[in-house]
Amino acid sequence: MQLLTTQHLSTTTKTPLARDPGLHVAIISDGNGRWATSRGLPRSAGHRAGAESARRIIEAAPRLGIHTLTLFALSSANWKRPAAEVTAILRLLHEYLLIETSHCVEEGVRLSVIGRRDRLPATLRQAIADSEAATANGTRLHLRLAIDYSAREAIYHAACRFYKVTELSPESFSNVLAEVLRGGSTEVDLLIRTGGEQRLSDFLLWECAFAEFVFLPKRWPDFGAADLASAIEEFGRRERTRGALPDAIAG
Ligand code: FPP
Repeated sequence: MQLLTTQHLSTTTKTPLARDPGLHVAIISDGNGRWATSRGLPRSAGHRAGAESARRIIEAAPRLGIHTLTLFALSSANWKRPAAEVTAILRLLHEYLLIETSHCVEEGVRLSVIGRRDRLPATLRQAIADSEAATANGTRLHLRLAIDYSAREAIYHAACRFYKVTELSPESFSNVLAEVLRGGSTEVDLLIRTGGEQRLSDFLLWECAFAEFVFLPKRWPDFGAADLASAIEEFGRRERTRGALPDAIAG
């Protein structure tokens, strides 16, 4: 695998966002429903297979140089789906937290949830709080699950709070946004979307300002560690200029 140079990492970037010591990879894990229906299975079976895929990717992430991994588990727009499907996803996430928290502690994974919590069932809210408290000392990987998340809404809420801040700067806005999100806010280096669509769908709009994008036709339940490694290799081949001249021209 091609080694990443310092220009690929946000640590060397002049950015209003907090810097990450490793790669921040964000994934729009799309295609669970189509994966299931193409097999004659209910959509909920696709989400269950999607949760298995998430487990594999979380396990592989630290050895691929990823320090922060943000997974889009439930968008605020997903409330428009049939209630039974949303309930099944929320149950699955709850079950996931109950089963995986001790595993995260063992593996040095700090888990945070970004997004609104007020519309989640109280039992899920409690499981999130318990999981975040139990994993708070993890330093190997910061796993952020976006649940009932809308980037636009988070930015709007940060803007509503921002008028109270006396020192106005992009950095202080980022800090307010990080508070709104609870799970912090660092610059995204690489955004991957599975499932064939090529859009951002209200995910990490502020954090993806200079992200590299990799769109893959593969559906999320079929996405594995080798696909993640290939996406990171592809990322390593990109020249990240952030508006400056490429090295070859700048001299
Ligand atoms: C996208 O597929 C998936 C979701 C909207 C919800 C659930 C996501 C997971 C279970 C994966 C992450 C899980 C954990 C535990 C972190 P889709 O339903 O939009 O698929 P489609 O586009 O084929 O209909």
